[in-house]
Amino acid sequence: MRKITIAIDGFSSSGKSTMAKDLAREIGYIYIDSGAMYRAVTLYAMEQGLFNSDGIDIETLKSRIRDIHISFRLDRDTQRPDTYLNGVNVEDKIRSMDVSAKVSPISTLGFVREAMVHRQQEMGKAKGIVMDGRDIGTTVFPDAELKIFVTASAETRAERRYEELKAKGQEACYDDILKNIKERDCMDQSREISPLRKADDAILLDNSIMSIPQQKEWLMKQYLQAIR
Ligand code: DC
Repeated sequence: MRKITIAIDGFSSSGKSTMAKDLAREIGYIYIDSGAMYRAVTLYAMEQGLFNSDGIDIETLKSRIRDIHISFRLDRDTQRPDTYLNGVNVEDKIRSMDVSAKVSPISTLGFVREAMVHRQQEMGKAKGIVMDGRDIGTTVFPDAELKIFVTASAETRAERRYEELKAKGQEACYDDILKNIKERDCMDQSREISPLRKADDAILLDNSIMSIPQQKEWLMKQYLQAIR
């Protein structure tokens, strides 16, 4: 069967990763969470002490961008891909509130985006890939055969993130999460390079009142139509 490229963009915590992962597993495609890549760069900058009272030490980060190796490996128990930063599993660390609070400024940096987009395009060369993020349908894979843009209210997304963190035993405060989501929405949409926006040919999905199985079924339908 012919393989295609599937781009799933949308607002933070809109459930796009869950849908994308499930679809990829079901149809035997590679799944790449591009947000995890920006989170891993952020964690690297934090661990290297590149955040200071003046902001980010941009020049040092720029000089080390080639030393940041990000990869994904399947966790045999969960059957989901974990993110590795320079060979270390950082899947839990990159989802912390600390990283969430610092990732937006990192993802506005031109040299970071350039490096990540290049790596993402390399990963997608052979097609058969589902990638989720903010600029996949507009910048990374503008020719993707199937593009989805996912949205839901900020309150619904904050609730989902709160439940996710609690389930992992991590500290969570609903109000902080909602504030972080609103701030990231604003920064993601207003940044100069590759702002979050729906590609003209993307299909819009508002999943505010949809269950995970309903979203899964909807996405499978879109995929089957796209490969027809
Ligand atoms: O999807 P996420 O919340 O894990 O993404 C983390 C951050 O990375 C988000 O605030 C915006 C940024 N991001 C981006 O700029 N471009 C992407 N393709 C994916 C994520």
